[in-house]
Amino acid sequence: MIYLDHAATTPVDKEVYNAMKPYFTEKYGNPSSIYTLGQEAKTALEESRWEISNILGAKPEEIIFTSGATESNNLAIKGATLCHGLTQIQKELRIDTDFRPHIITSAIEHHSVLDAVKYLEKYFDFEVTYLPVDKEGVVDIGELEKSIKNNTVLVSIMHANNEVGTIEPIEKIGSLIKNEKLKRKNEGNDLPIVFHTDAVQSFQYLDTNVDKLGVDMLSLTGHKFYGPKGVGILYVRKGTKFLPQQQGGAQERKRRAGTENVPYIVGMAKAMKVSRGQMSDVGIRTKKLRDKLIKGVLEKIPNAILAGHPTKRLPHNAAFCFKKIEGESILINLDFEGIAASSGSACTSGSLEPSHVLLAMGYDHETAHGSIRFTFGKENTEADVDYVLEKLPPIIEKLRNMSPLK
Ligand SMILES: Cc1ncc(COP(=O)(O)O)c(C=O)c1O
Repeated sequence: MIYLDHAATTPVDKEVYNAMKPYFTEKYGNPSSIYTLGQEAKTALEESRWEISNILGAKPEEIIFTSGATESNNLAIKGATLCHGLTQIQKELRIDTDFRPHIITSAIEHHSVLDAVKYLEKYFDFEVTYLPVDKEGVVDIGELEKSIKNNTVLVSIMHANNEVGTIEPIEKIGSLIKNEKLKRKNEGNDLPIVFHTDAVQSFQYLDTNVDKLGVDMLSLTGHKFYGPKGVGILYVRKGTKFLPQQQGGAQERKRRAGTENVPYIVGMAKAMKVSRGQMSDVGIRTKKLRDKLIKGVLEKIPNAILAGHPTKRLPHNAAFCFKKIEGESILINLDFEGIAASSGSACTSGSLEPSHVLLAMGYDHETAHGSIRFTFGKENTEADVDYVLEKLPPIIEKLRNMSPLK
């Protein structure tokens, strides 16, 4: 099989797996236990936290371990906004307040951000601005600047998009937010404005130093960089007003209750270290493969569209749209040929919904339905690209000939 879906998940590196193993069977103590076995686990946990904080340019106490980026994103969005305490219930009880927290996010975020924001909008009466993006998926920074208001408490913009690979101007947004913080300080307005980024897709390829990016919160998940699934990180800058969302234990400085997943955390820290050591090599390798695939597809397949930014994109991502056919049908045909890729469409209540990302980028439904994403990893080769370039064009031709839309 040729695996070209590294944005969905990656295999666990051998050395990551080996680092995790002892923490299942020999060093299995609970890090909250005071005897030696527990303290051994606690040491591994704190060493991992130290390693990770170093890689992100953060302090160890600013790292919260979670079950993955879905939890990290939910925790960031709810934690940094619900601390302001205004709820629908309070309104219904007629508690006198006209303060309504405002969140700014983009229309192309992962559902773990969008749905958390929609939840606050629906059940807590928060005000939300969903920023538009251009045809290439870049957030409109001018619109962002215009959208910041006196009641804005959170801005959440992803570092790089998971479907089309477009890289967002996080540093620029970081400086905008910094200016807003200064302005509020000078005006005596003590309402915090928190900047969160979902860096799930970018960690393997881009610098994620939290000070360089200018973020207050950052989410990661282990399995996108050759670590285990079901473990993640939320970085929370010291001093950020934050309301924990899970109670029942004093773990993670009372910010995320529950016994820590020591083997997975050890694995994730190892994967981050390995990933940083190989970052430029993997970036150069995958970019070469990506560019060869993009060139080949655009040359060999009539009316193929490259989705996302031509240059400001993750080095491993090649996303396309093929008009008049369904991405799912392409995927099934590719699977028959032993190629694993992905489509932007999502199955919602039995029907295929086109990708919200492509629709926000201005694609019509018909074009957005025919989307397909190939994401390379460090184990792919040029022969894999040649194989896709041999198999994909006849699949597209066959499906177009069968299409009722032709
Ligand atoms: C951009 C982005 N954010 C968040 C997530 C959620 O990560 P997880 O499923 O590991 O919780 C993903 C997963 O695909 C993602 O691509």
